[in-house]
Amino acid sequence: MDQDTTGRIGALIARMTLQEKLGQLTMLADGLVETGPPGPHNPFNMVADGRVGSLLNVWGADLIREAQRRAVEESRLGVPLFFGLDVVHGHRSIHPVPLGEACAFDRALWEETARASAQEAAHDGVHMTFAPMIDVARDIRWGRIVECAGEDPYVNAQYARARVRGYQAPDETGRMRLAACAKHFCAYGAVLAGREYAEVDVSQRALEEVYLPPFRAAVDAGVAAIMPAFVDVAGVAMTAHRRLLREVLRAQWRFNGLIVTDYNSIAELVNHGVAADMAEAAALALNAGVDIDMMSDAYANGLPVALERGLVSMEDIDGAVRRVLALKQSLGLFDDPYRGMGPAGTPKQPPSAEGRRLSREAARRSIVLTQNRESMLPLGAVRTLAVVGPLADACEDQLGAWASAGAGEDSTTIIAGLRATWPSAEVRHALGAVYEGEDADLLAQAVEAARGADAVVLCVGESRAMNGEANTRTRPYVPQGQLALARAMLDSGAPVILVLCSGRPLILPDWLVEGARAVLIAWHAGTETGSALGDILSGACNPSARLAVTWPRVLGQVPIFFGIRPTGRPHDPANGWSTGFGDAPFAPRWSFGEGQGYARFARSNLRVDNARLGPESLVRVSVDVTNLGDRQACETVFVFSHDPVARVTRPLLELRDFTKVSLEPGETRTATFVLRAWDFAYPDETLKLRLDTGLIQLHVGASARACDLDRVDVEIVEGTP
Ligand code: BGC
Repeated sequence: MDQDTTGRIGALIARMTLQEKLGQLTMLADGLVETGPPGPHNPFNMVADGRVGSLLNVWGADLIREAQRRAVEESRLGVPLFFGLDVVHGHRSIHPVPLGEACAFDRALWEETARASAQEAAHDGVHMTFAPMIDVARDIRWGRIVECAGEDPYVNAQYARARVRGYQAPDETGRMRLAACAKHFCAYGAVLAGREYAEVDVSQRALEEVYLPPFRAAVDAGVAAIMPAFVDVAGVAMTAHRRLLREVLRAQWRFNGLIVTDYNSIAELVNHGVAADMAEAAALALNAGVDIDMMSDAYANGLPVALERGLVSMEDIDGAVRRVLALKQSLGLFDDPYRGMGPAGTPKQPPSAEGRRLSREAARRSIVLTQNRESMLPLGAVRTLAVVGPLADACEDQLGAWASAGAGEDSTTIIAGLRATWPSAEVRHALGAVYEGEDADLLAQAVEAARGADAVVLCVGESRAMNGEANTRTRPYVPQGQLALARAMLDSGAPVILVLCSGRPLILPDWLVEGARAVLIAWHAGTETGSALGDILSGACNPSARLAVTWPRVLGQVPIFFGIRPTGRPHDPANGWSTGFGDAPFAPRWSFGEGQGYARFARSNLRVDNARLGPESLVRVSVDVTNLGDRQACETVFVFSHDPVARVTRPLLELRDFTKVSLEPGETRTATFVLRAWDFAYPDETLKLRLDTGLIQLHVGASARACDLDRVDVEIVEGTP
């Protein structure tokens, strides 16, 4: 963040009253969009009094210009506001939900879509996005799994870095276009039973190995802000977590950006049972290092009392104000409070042609093909297609949770996309079912539509309101009414292409997966879902996405993820006394990394250039990949490691890197990874990082399934003493 070279910040703070200082620490929602209990305020009127320093959930040049005018022209000190919004996967042009885009395993894409959303959002007056969300999530019941990059800490860390770079990329003036706010620090994805806002109780090891690394990556990438999670971790509410916020984030990681609470979080410290009143709650948060109070009024009302009681110091208040002003300075708002935004009176902008192109491209690379029996796809000549299900023409729902300023009217729905793909075919449409509940008439219409069709495209799953925040589901299934539709479509005799649209993996009945010829996991793929699906079904695009999350077979397997530790009784289907389930298979429906395209690949010649490593050594791991198919194709290669003998039990697989290899038919290319020996260090029994001498196994291949991996070993010949 900018140093205060002009001394402007210090001078401003010196002139501020306590109320004005607390105003800078107060962020209020405009009320255009509610993402929590509405506040009693009219923030616009508070701006002129200097009682608010930033607004959230407001966008559009007219509103923002007016609010900013009040701040700079009517408030006593003329300090500009900044404006925050959840620009999570696009702004006006909506990209796939993060869990979907994670499946692209493409850092450049993650950065590019973030940069594009920043451009659109900045034009609408937004300065901060509450993103990336990098809570590793392994429980499909939790609705917010949709917002993260899946189950793996390394993937989330890579995603964090790419997103921060994209959002914060400089504009023409050389200043970051949008400040990123990584959230929710930390371990929110581990809420008990996947229950929203519930307690979290993870070990210090899990924090260090799983939940903190993505945030460390965001900080290393220069993220401007961090949002503590709503939850408590082992009894300590994150909004008041001195150790993690002050000692880890600020002192160890040298994070000097802003800490912005989640919505109403400081007031909720009273509900957590760690503060008796607002003054105590405010003191806990400030003393833990929290700068901005989003929506709870606790700083404005509680800190004056806390000061009187001697619970906080003016020095700490000034420190927080300084960081807020430093962000405003970094954003260039003192020089141009209206920077980057369109002129007043600018009508609502639909996505540009470029915005649509990128949405389509991102969707093409995020839709995962997990099954393609008898090479059902790509479809050859199509005469009659029946497109059925509640997601077939769902312009709003396909945008997914947290769709920012995205408008359903701008969507290319699945039915529209398929009609555009096959203009001379008969593409019939029937809703077939509502999301939840039964409807015999709708079902009958779908049966009629399927009669004599070359294929049925069955679009089932979740509405966007069925996942996201506050949408934990104890039954994350395709609902009954939609299953009845699926059954009827399978009975119709036409081959069925199952297109699952959801914000989380859904538990599927075996008969549905076995009955469908092809299965595509489309997630909520954004504005251009329909065009991208048309590209994939027709073969104009060869699908390349891979699952960034393990897809369970039955709910009782949850939480399920590939990075489990070995047990004393490893799973063995022939041995009833080994780890597993008595009434369900051990394996998931689909593993992390699974996904197909329209080509097969061969891997060969796995090798390392250096098999004996010291602590500073690098090792190049290479493998040749050949496209055995007859069209251009893209394979994803993952490198995992396993430490078979260590002081503590190490996960069976730890992801170290991934890459995509694009291949012409028949072409062979080498995928090469450079790993550092130090990457194989691990927190020992005292949580001190150590590198042991001995063998490390490298598992390289197409997914986390054993059958997709080849192995090569290296030896650590010199470790830590
Ligand atoms: C969510 C945050 C979000 C905030 C502002 C909260 O309810 O937990 O992720 O950034 O609202 O919209």
